[in-house]
Amino acid sequence: MPPRTHTSLVTGATAGLGLAFAHALAARGHDLVLVARDEARLHEVADEIAVAYGGAVSVLAADLSTDEGTARVAEVLRGSAIDLLVNNAGFGTPHGFLDTPLADEDRSLDVLVRAPMRLCHAVLPGMLDRGRGAVVNVASVAGFLPRGTYGAHKAWLISFSRWLAVTHRRTGVQVMVLCPGFVRTEFHQRMGVDMTGLPGWMWLDADDVVGDALADLAAGVTVSVPSRRYQVLTRLARLTPAVVAERVSRSGRR
Ligand SMILES: NC(=O)c1ccc[n+]([C@@H]2O[C@H](COP(=O)([O-])OP(=O)(O)OC[C@H]3O[C@@H](n4cnc5c(N)ncnc54)[C@H](OP(=O)(O)O)[C@@H]3O)[C@@H](O)[C@H]2O)c1
Repeated sequence: MPPRTHTSLVTGATAGLGLAFAHALAARGHDLVLVARDEARLHEVADEIAVAYGGAVSVLAADLSTDEGTARVAEVLRGSAIDLLVNNAGFGTPHGFLDTPLADEDRSLDVLVRAPMRLCHAVLPGMLDRGRGAVVNVASVAGFLPRGTYGAHKAWLISFSRWLAVTHRRTGVQVMVLCPGFVRTEFHQRMGVDMTGLPGWMWLDADDVVGDALADLAAGVTVSVPSRRYQVLTRLARLTPAVVAERVSRSGRR
């Protein structure tokens, strides 16, 4: 049986996948704590969700690229009985590694790796004491291929989540890593990249991804890859010899 969940904390809850998680969880009767940087937008989303579904929705404005912001979220996770943590906040960098300022690379590492690691460290002891709870770490299919630091950060999150899931099996605490393909959100627009060349079939809808993810969580899945097409692609990526994967991954970016 998947753990019963009541209060969920979602990072990056004001847009894209995080917003879809917030709606889907509220619709299933969860109280919510919503985290992102833009406080005004957090309040707008919280009001909209509270009106639509009822239940308690609180907000926490925090920048997960900073020690201070991550520590404030960790404090909430330690101090309240959170049943589901969704580590979702993230962003991409538009240029190759050597053309990206190191400060941006550091921010990316902080948000995509250090923050979920710290938030798992904060939330899991309480969940283990209570004998129930779940963590969903949002990675990407990019984590299955060598794709710059973004792919490396997501690969770290996949590996870490799989290890946590195995380690805490049969404790009542579940850890799942969600690996979506391309999803229509604000992600690419924020990166400032032109995605018009991407074939339509490669785009996923955020609500569909979250629906599949929550179904996988309920079914006890550890690595969730929404949609048949990306399940096939990731299976191929996992079976592809390293030399071929490396050739496919060469993008001309340094
Ligand atoms: N879209 C895709 O194609 C795709 C595919 C695979 C995986 N993913 C992953 O899915 C996750 C969500 O991405 P998305 O596509 O939903 O992106 P999105 O639409 O751009 O939303 C990003 C969310 O994260 C928050 N955020 C960004 N930087 C933050 C920071 N430093 N501290 C706290 N919150 C921050 C944003 O709010 P504020 O700006 O107010 O902070 C926003 O709520 C990411 O981890 C991404 O890597 C996305």
